[in-house]
Amino acid sequence: MAGRIGVVGSNMIDLVTYIDRMPGPGETVEAPSFEIGFGGKGANQAIAAARLGSDVTMVTRVGDDMFGPQVLENLRSNGVDTAHSRAVPGQPSGVAPIFVEPSGENAILIVKGANATLSPADVDEAAEALASCDLILMQLEVPLETVYHTVALAAARGIRTVLNPAPADPTLDVSRLRGLGYFTPNESELAVLTGLPTGTEAEIEAAARSLMAKGIDAIVVTLGGRGARLVTADGVHAIAPVTVEAVDTTGAGDAFIGSFAHFHAGGMDAPAALAQAARYAALSITRRGTQKSYATPAEFAAFCAMLD
Ligand code: RIB
Ligand code: NA
Repeated sequence: MAGRIGVVGSNMIDLVTYIDRMPGPGETVEAPSFEIGFGGKGANQAIAAARLGSDVTMVTRVGDDMFGPQVLENLRSNGVDTAHSRAVPGQPSGVAPIFVEPSGENAILIVKGANATLSPADVDEAAEALASCDLILMQLEVPLETVYHTVALAAARGIRTVLNPAPADPTLDVSRLRGLGYFTPNESELAVLTGLPTGTEAEIEAAARSLMAKGIDAIVVTLGGRGARLVTADGVHAIAPVTVEAVDTTGAGDAFIGSFAHFHAGGMDAPAALAQAARYAALSITRRGTQKSYATPAEFAAFCAMLD
């Protein structure tokens, strides 16, 4: 069963340079290769869910430059509904210069451009489309006020929500996330947002529970090579890590969230959906690029068969 997913979030053009090493100040270094691709945490998560077969609608803003129409066309050609996505006059598109090291590790700069104009009023305009969704996904590449507004709107309508607090923003006011379904910080974001230590399993659980006390249903703490922990009112579920040979980690976090939304909105319970998502993200790490590294259902099934 395919669920219906709404994404209120960003899009970016990824300018990806594969490097041997970062240049130092005043230094010029030759890099082996460069690629342009479609990215942005919101669009990446939308594309991952759509590629897996979810019915996805996206609320996003592009620039009125050469990239804008291409970003919208990319969403459409991947089956994402763009009825509530459009260009903003006078604004540039969001771009992300990205540097990928031979280890697959990346460093990312983002210039938000039109994403910084996505407003609460834009969300209201899409309210009916969002109200028909099983689940709504958000990240932090659009204004915080827009995120708070979307959480409140979804909570009022009884729609499940997922907020991926990336990139990390220490000014995020957790007290304004009341009614949020899933919040997905990594351990350092969890520490910054709660002011609590996250060095041990017990500390991670306690920090997660301090966020739940503010009105969030469940916390998914991502732990990199140690997998993830789902903390709910019932207890803590460990999500096992999936180890692969890393080629390019860019967008792996988005593959995880977007595929979690797909599997969970499609009817899988959260622990099972997170376990599948960990596999989907791992597969994306074995391939170059961001969205283009997200597997089809057939490719994902083949990867899973190999793991089992
Ligand atoms: O999470 C990866 C994404 O972060 C990239 O696609 C880049 O656009 C930035 O938004
Ligand atoms: Na990748």
